[in-house]
Amino acid sequence: MKHIGVLTGGGDAPGLNAVIRAVVKSAHTHGGYEVLGIRDGYDGLLDPAGVFTLTPAEVRGILPRGGTILGAANRGNPFARTVMQDGAEVVEDVSDEVIQSIHELHLDSLIVVGGDGTLRISQELFEKGCPMIGVPKTIDNDINGTDVTFGFDTAVSTATDAIDKLHTTAEAHHRVMVLELMGRDAGFIALHAGVAGGADVILIPEIPFSFERVCTTIKTRARRGARFSIIAVAEGAHPVGEEATYRSAGDELYVARLGGIGQVVAQVVESSCKMESRVMVLGHLQRGGGPTAFDRWLATRFGAAAFRLAERGAHGRMVALSGTKITDVSLVEALSQPKRVDLQGDGVRTARNLGLCLGD
Ligand code: F6P
Repeated sequence: MKHIGVLTGGGDAPGLNAVIRAVVKSAHTHGGYEVLGIRDGYDGLLDPAGVFTLTPAEVRGILPRGGTILGAANRGNPFARTVMQDGAEVVEDVSDEVIQSIHELHLDSLIVVGGDGTLRISQELFEKGCPMIGVPKTIDNDINGTDVTFGFDTAVSTATDAIDKLHTTAEAHHRVMVLELMGRDAGFIALHAGVAGGADVILIPEIPFSFERVCTTIKTRARRGARFSIIAVAEGAHPVGEEATYRSAGDELYVARLGGIGQVVAQVVESSCKMESRVMVLGHLQRGGGPTAFDRWLATRFGAAAFRLAERGAHGRMVALSGTKITDVSLVEALSQPKRVDLQGDGVRTARNLGLCLGD
């Protein structure tokens, strides 16, 4: 009997359960494998109650469900884990304990479903001899080596639906509606949903924007008879020469929390364009709920492909989508650089062809 562990780390994304289910069902169909579910990211490897057997019964009915039956943790880096000591928080390197646990569980492969941070930990563990396999996940779609991550399509659908709904109320009240979307460093959600929803202005982290350009667009639209406008802004977007807007600064343990740029844009537009403006922050709704059919399809294919890598003993690799085909790349390659919106690419050119304002 061989053993495969599965864990989900970082922020959740619709489709995590579909990956888990695909690994379990593939292993069951093949035979000769026991799949172990690890709770709450890498934390589960440090907890005797954090590991349990995943049978087909455990994964029945989870395909359309958002979240993850394994739980996730986006502060659980074993190389820098926060623990309480004498009532104070201290940072410890507990990676040796994690490695020991992987050996004690006799894991022949450990499938890690996560974003950049989780996969980076996976690469470090691989370098220390652990049998790691990566599955890329993030609604932001900012992982290199794969054309797309699962969760992204669902987030874009949710964001597009929000833009559709904002259109009707914006039109009724002759307002400028600003929709703040997720996307720390990559503006894929705002760009795709903005184009799919017909936003008039799309602001993304990759293109520092000018308030003047944004306001000129709104005023020009108004002069031409459009009595409302829609602005889609990624949380990491920022004006030229300024930093992104942070809700909380963060520290060496906690990633800085972005948010608030939508409010800033709405205020400037209201005062400069003399048009009533409102802002909506879509936030974690983009991560919640069940995956779209595309994300179920992609996540299921990723899960089955991760099992095939385990079967081959191909460790240190990440499953990926290349065009229409599932392939795999080394974790090193995937993590060598982050993926960002290509400013010369089709998405940006399409937006420009349509006359959308990208803030520059
Ligand atoms: O990385 C995905 C993401 O959704 C980012 O777009 C966002 O900044 C972050 O997660 C929010 O994370 P948290 O759940 O910790 O607030």
